[in-house]
Amino acid sequence: MRALGHVVISGASRGLGAALARRLAAPGVTLGLVARGAAGLGAVAAECEARGATVRLAALDVRDGAALAALLRDWDAALPVDCIIANAGISGGTRPDGAAEGGEAAAAQVAVNLLGAVHLIEPLLPSMLARGRGQVALVGSVAGFRGLPDSPAYCAGKAGLWAYGEALRAAHGPAGIAVTVVAPGFFSSAMGARYLGAKPFEISAEAAAARLHRALLRRQGRLVFPWPLGVLLRGLALLPAPLGDALLRRARFRIAPEGPKSAIASS
Ligand SMILES: NC(=O)c1ccc[n+]([C@@H]2O[C@H](COP(=O)([O-])OP(=O)(O)OC[C@H]3O[C@@H](n4cnc5c(N)ncnc54)[C@H](OP(=O)(O)O)[C@@H]3O)[C@@H](O)[C@H]2O)c1
Repeated sequence: MRALGHVVISGASRGLGAALARRLAAPGVTLGLVARGAAGLGAVAAECEARGATVRLAALDVRDGAALAALLRDWDAALPVDCIIANAGISGGTRPDGAAEGGEAAAAQVAVNLLGAVHLIEPLLPSMLARGRGQVALVGSVAGFRGLPDSPAYCAGKAGLWAYGEALRAAHGPAGIAVTVVAPGFFSSAMGARYLGAKPFEISAEAAAARLHRALLRRQGRLVFPWPLGVLLRGLALLPAPLGDALLRRARFRIAPEGPKSAIASS
């Protein structure tokens, strides 16, 4: 596989971000890994270094836009960033008794999943545009294609992320910036484990990373997998609202034992 050069990945301490970092790690590659958990980042960094990559770490919350901007400008000044992968994400969900997520949980999801990506991408865009080259990937979800009753704020953040990425691609593609918007279905990870019930077409985080890597190498504009889930949710969004809502309400809500986490289980 061709190496991508200097790549910044958010949410690289575990799950898809860690799998991507390991996959991209090779001699000649520099990885800038961002997440809050220093221990997870350190373990991923060691694996990437063992594969020959140079690794920089930052234990940062992507909600801290000022700190992230300062860090990214430093990294970019030391070695121009070729590729940004906005992957950090959290999930919440409604409670089994049907109670709403609550303002704090809902706002946190939008802040991390949407604004966190904006904080990662915007500081580097001007220098990428000045160089006339660069690449950006935004990891959304098929849950961004239709609001799901168990995860309103998660769906909202991912819908916003998709729209933001599509706009960036349309705006900056001609200036040499390749933007890939990514909408995965289920893959195994800590986040994936929080969802109970059926996970149709679930794949491993490594398989998801391989798909994203291929899409980056092709400078593909959109990546949706598995496509049947993408088509299903896009199709639900096209139905008249009462019909789409009724179909989604037929699903049962299930919750992971350790907290306010829910998912639609197959009925
Ligand atoms: N798993 C699925 O089935 C699935 C399906 C569709 C889309 N996705 C999306 O794929 C992406 C990766 O998910 P995953 O399944 O790999 O989840 P995960 O295993 O829970 O990993 C999430 C990553 O994001 C980081 N993160 C969370 N909040 C952060 C914050 N405020 N600042 C910086 N980093 C933060 C976490 O690190 P720290 O906790 O150390 O900060 C971790 O590295 C997410 O955007 C998710 O929404 C997942």
